[in-house]
Amino acid sequence: MDGNGRWAARHGKARHAGHRAGVRAARSITKACVEVGTDVLTLFAFSSENWRRPIDEVNSLMRLFVEVLQREIDEIHERGIQFRFIGAREQLPEILRKRISAAEVRTANNDQMTLVLAVAYGGRWDLVQAARRVAAKVRAGELEPGEIDEGVIGRHLSLTGLPAPDLLIRTGGERRISNFLLWDIAYTELYFTDALWPDFNPGELENALAFFRSRQRRFGRTSDQLEAVGD
Ligand code: FPP
Repeated sequence: MDGNGRWAARHGKARHAGHRAGVRAARSITKACVEVGTDVLTLFAFSSENWRRPIDEVNSLMRLFVEVLQREIDEIHERGIQFRFIGAREQLPEILRKRISAAEVRTANNDQMTLVLAVAYGGRWDLVQAARRVAAKVRAGELEPGEIDEGVIGRHLSLTGLPAPDLLIRTGGERRISNFLLWDIAYTELYFTDALWPDFNPGELENALAFFRSRQRRFGRTSDQLEAVGD
């Protein structure tokens, strides 16, 4: 969700106002995703590298996440959305950790859509934590090194149990992944838009979905093979 700061500058506002506008966009895109039948929406709200931002901005973002979870959780639950968190939760302020756990517990049985919030998340962090847990199982004698395959790695990553993402949307004009879901996006369609995140509305989402529908997903096969099976 890139571009909150630039959106604020363009509107003569402080960066914090840009982040608040970003929350409004996240709210409207979440609703739109439920309406179009999305199974999983993952929002990258704060990366492992975002700790390097000025301390005032980091603190105000953490406060904003606490406030948003508190304010939105009733509606998330009423809409049947399951809330899930990915990231280094031990790095977060205690109040935020508590809100996250409460939201996860409360919405655990919902099945309309899964909303994953990534905070203090990095794709490399995810691979490292998975490697550590797999190594611990090997040391405990629960797993042989030769048994480590893609399935084992996948089951130790944060998005375990969820399908690999079909579409990744990056707003704000950058054309890079910036350490988002590195393993999981091996076959994900990538959509880059210059729209700043606060301007990313349901119409912009529709453009991204139209792009997605125009792609032929071959997963290593040839077009002829796919046509033979009527895909
Ligand atoms: C990216 O814009 C935004 C962030 C790092 C902040 C987190 C995102 C939000 C507040 C929106 C939604 C939040 C939730 C909890 C659903 P930037 O600051 O990198 O903007 P810039 O690239 O223009 O400087």
